Amino acid sequence: MTDRYASFVRSGAGRALVKRLGLPDPPRLRRHTPGDPLLPGPVLLGAATGGRLAEPTTRILTAAGVELADPAATTDPAATGTARRHAALVYDATGITDSTGLRQLYDFFHPQARSVLPSGRVIVLGTPPEECDAPREATAQRALEGLTRSIGKEFGRGITAQLVYVTANGDAGTTTGLESTLRFLLSGRSAYVSAQVVRVGAGAAEPPADWNRPLDGQVVLVTGAARGIGAALARVLARDGARVVALDVPAAGDELAAVANEIGGTAVQLDLTAPDAPTRLADHLADRHGHVDVVVHNAGITRDKTLGRMDADRWNSVLDVNLSSQERINDVLLERGLIPAGGRIVSVSSIAGIAGNRGQTNYATSKAGVIGLVHSLAPVLRERGISINAVAPGFIETRMTARIPLVIREAGRRMNSMAQGGQPVDVAETIGWLAWPASGAVSGNVVRVCGQSLLGA
Ligand SMILES: NC(=O)c1ccc[n+]([C@@H]2O[C@H](COP(=O)([O-])OP(=O)(O)OC[C@H]3O[C@@H](n4cnc5c(N)ncnc54)[C@H](O)[C@@H]3O)[C@@H](O)[C@H]2O)c1
Repeated sequence: MTDRYASFVRSGAGRALVKRLGLPDPPRLRRHTPGDPLLPGPVLLGAATGGRLAEPTTRILTAAGVELADPAATTDPAATGTARRHAALVYDATGITDSTGLRQLYDFFHPQARSVLPSGRVIVLGTPPEECDAPREATAQRALEGLTRSIGKEFGRGITAQLVYVTANGDAGTTTGLESTLRFLLSGRSAYVSAQVVRVGAGAAEPPADWNRPLDGQVVLVTGAARGIGAALARVLARDGARVVALDVPAAGDELAAVANEIGGTAVQLDLTAPDAPTRLADHLADRHGHVDVVVHNAGITRDKTLGRMDADRWNSVLDVNLSSQERINDVLLERGLIPAGGRIVSVSSIAGIAGNRGQTNYATSKAGVIGLVHSLAPVLRERGISINAVAPGFIETRMTARIPLVIREAGRRMNSMAQGGQPVDVAETIGWLAWPASGAVSGNVVRVCGQSLLGA
C-alpha cells in the first residue's frame, strides 16, 4: 500500500509546506541491502566505570568491520565546532550500580545528542534488573529504560534507540550471544524497531560462516506466506540462505505458488484450523526434510466488531487461527521431535495484544495469548536448546491495514516516532534475526516492530 502523504512530503512542494506548517515529516529509513556495511559511519562507544561489556562489544564491532570513533576527538561538537557525526552511539551501562551513577549517562549522551546521523542507532547495554542482588543496582539498571525510550522519541530523523539487557551468567551471553543482537540493531534490518528492551540470555548461539547468509541451509516453515508480511518473510529468509516451506490456505494457492517459485522454496496448501492440519504438516516436514529448524507462526486474521455486536463465529475463528492452531502445531512438532536443539519458534503477535483495541476483543485476546505462549514455553524449550520469541507489529502497510477506515488508518500511520507505517520487510527482518542460529541467547522476548507507536507504549 502506498503512503501518499510520505511521497508528497518528499517532493519539493511538500517539503516547503511541511516546514511551514510543522506537519509530521516521515524520514526515509535506512533499510538493509545484502552486502551493505553494517553502518554508514563510525560508532562512538562509551562505558560507565566498571562496565563488563565494553570489551566484548569492541571485539564484536571490530570483527564486523565497524569504525570506532576516538572518544577524545568527539567531545562537545557545539563547543569545539568540529562536529564529528556518528552512525551509532553504544553505551555500556552495566557498571552503574546506583542512582547517582546515572549521571554518567548524561555525561556521555548530552554532548553527542546532535551528533547522530539520520537513521542512526543508539544502544544502551545493561544488566537485567532481576539479576541484580542489590536493590540500588536493580533500580539504576531499570532506570535505563526511561532514557532509551525518551531518546527514541526525541532524536527523530529515523534514529532508533534500544536497551539491551545482557545476562551476567555465563559468557555465551556476553560475547557470541550478544553479537547477533548488536548486528541486527545496528543494521538497516531494524529500521522500524525502536524503544525496545531486548533480553540476551545464556542460550547457545552458533555464529554463521557468513553474516550475509545468517540462515544458510536452515529449513524454515512460514505460515500465511501467500501475501503481506508472510510473503516478505519468505523472501527475506530465502535471501538469507534458508530453505523455505511456504504454507497458506488452498484458496491462496496461486499466490502461494508464485512466492514459493520466486524463492526456490516449496508450497504447502493447508488450512491451519483443519483438525488434521498439525499431523499433515508434521508428515510433510518429516518426509521432505526430516526436521524443521525454524517455525514462524505468521498466519493471522481479523474479524472486527465491538464485543456487543460480535457473533460467536468471529470470536472462534480469530482465536483458532491466531492462537489455538499455533499451540496445536507446536505440540505435534515438539512431540515428534521434529524441531531439533538449536531450533527456533517465532510467533507473530500485535501491538493490539499489548494495548488492546476497540472492535478487536477477539484479535487482541488472541495476540495477547501469543505473548503468553512465548513466555510460558520459553523456559520449557530452553532445556531442549530451542528458543521462542514473538514480534508484535504496529501499523504495517499490508492488505490487512488497507481495510482500516481512512481517518483511523492515517492516525495509525503517523502516531509513532517514525511518522510512517512500517513495511512488511521490517517485520520480516526482525523475525529473521530471531530465527538465526546465532540468536540462541535471545528467547522469551516480545519485540515490537512499530516505530515506537504510541499505542501501548
Ligand atoms: N499488517 C499489520 O499491520 C499487522 C499488525 C500487527 C500484526 N499483524 C499480524 O501479522 C500477521 C500477517 O499479517 P498480514 O498483514 O500480512 O495479513 P494478510 O491478511 O495480508 O496475510 C495473512 C495470511 O495468512 C493466511 N491465513 C489466514 N488464515 C489461515 C489459515 N487458517 N491457514 C493458513 N493460512 C491462513 C492468509 O491466507 C494470508 O495469506 C498476522 O498474524 C497479523 O495478525 C499484522
